Amino acid sequence: MTTPIPHTAHADHQTPATHGDRLTAIILAAGKGLRMRSALPKVLHPVAGIPMAGHVLAAVHHVHPECVLVVVSPLNRELIHSALGQGAQLVEQHEQLGTGHALSVALPEVSLSTRHILVASGDTPLLRGETVAALVELHTRREAGVTLLTAVVPAAQAADLGRLHRGARGKPLAIVEAAEPLPAKGGTVEVNAGLYVFDAIWLRSAIRHLKPHPSGEFFLTDLVALAVAEGKRVEALAAHVAQDALGVNTREQLAVAERVMQERLRSYWLGQGVTMVDPQTVYLHARVELAPDVTLHPNTAIQGTSRIAQHVTVGPNAIVTDSTLAEHAVVSSAVVEGAVLEAGAHVGPYSHVRPGAHLERDAFVGSHVEVKNSRIGAGAHIGHFSYVGDADVGPRTNIGAGTVTCNFDGRDKHRTVIGADVFIGSDTLLVAPVTVGDGARTGAGAVVTHDVPAGVTVAGVPARLLVRGGAVAGQERTGYG
Ligand code: UD1
Ligand code: CA
Repeated sequence: MTTPIPHTAHADHQTPATHGDRLTAIILAAGKGLRMRSALPKVLHPVAGIPMAGHVLAAVHHVHPECVLVVVSPLNRELIHSALGQGAQLVEQHEQLGTGHALSVALPEVSLSTRHILVASGDTPLLRGETVAALVELHTRREAGVTLLTAVVPAAQAADLGRLHRGARGKPLAIVEAAEPLPAKGGTVEVNAGLYVFDAIWLRSAIRHLKPHPSGEFFLTDLVALAVAEGKRVEALAAHVAQDALGVNTREQLAVAERVMQERLRSYWLGQGVTMVDPQTVYLHARVELAPDVTLHPNTAIQGTSRIAQHVTVGPNAIVTDSTLAEHAVVSSAVVEGAVLEAGAHVGPYSHVRPGAHLERDAFVGSHVEVKNSRIGAGAHIGHFSYVGDADVGPRTNIGAGTVTCNFDGRDKHRTVIGADVFIGSDTLLVAPVTVGDGARTGAGAVVTHDVPAGVTVAGVPARLLVRGGAVAGQERTGYG
């Protein structure tokens, strides 16, 4: 294997196009996936946060196909379309009559100028771009009719897989499905990994000769014996790492695929200069971006499209999802989602920073704080159990313990705007919409129902202007009285 990194994490390991040969990729994804016992189509079950079919799509893109067709059922079409986006053209297989039938449904959609047809299963998330490229390279170099990927696995792991039957001098003869057992050699068997390259002209004619099995299904795998019978060259490439070819049919196999993918991701990012104190307990989404000198403490998950800059520390016990963390930010025992943390911003422990939160430089969110859809100014402090939602907090402002922005009136959400250098006393309720001017102060327990001008102090329930000497000034103008 040239690189341990999943094809999904980086795109710069691409192999050159196949010598100008036109190639179409077909991904089979219409199966019922009954063994998953799931309402979600099997190929959409995520591995490292990405649907299995998305990993396969990324892998086949390494050989620059002129077109990618995905065979779907009418039932899973919409879900697959929204999961895979524009990267593929969908073809419907109305009845799931087996892999051979699925392929026959897609063939009429393949451009006549295509010379090679790559066929992959949507349920092989560990497939690497390099493996696809190696298979296509072997196929074109040997001018084969059929080239298939195999894996040598312990016989016990081959229970539901097709096996490659080889004849004299190792010549591939046929794929024998699991129901028809083959003797194992030395406890291992060579199984069919479900990735094939076909000569397009031969495939178009041969597909018509597939016969249904007693179950009524047409097996794509029967094409191997057909090619042999017609004197076509058949090549088989054994994967270096057998588990790269693992097909996922059950939840148990899904868990194995997730574990293997996590191992690949961790080992890639460790190699890129990320410290993981206990790698086994770090969980990474396939699309995260981590800079060198990031430290990930135990029990940490970095999910979605998160980007983490140098010298950031995350964990222990933290979840960061779809967020951007700048240099020296810290997230400790906290949940941060859909947020931006500027350099030196700090969250935690036991806080929840929710979508739309933006913590400017050195902003500090301490313990038991929830921040949502709010901008927290540079150097501002929200140290202890507070809720700040739909708010703008100015730089250097201090939000006292127990402060709540009362942003919801039972029907609508309203904004709270707090200026720079403001001191919000403990247990202040800010009843939005409300504005607190620069340098203003609120007393402990204030319920602020009207805008507070810059520089003044308000206190009480509802809050009134607090003026030294007992006199109240400017109450009409400010609404306080
Ligand atoms: C298949 C191979 C087996 C191989 C294994 C590798 C056949 C007959 N067997 O078995 O030799 O070892 O993959 O993982 O091909 N699909 C459709 N329409 C259908 C049926 C299936 O699109 O009517 C799709 C599925 O969504 C799946 C792929 O084809 O993505 C493979 O089907 P699956 O049922 O998983 O085949 P296996 O039993 O795993
Ligand atoms: Ca399968």
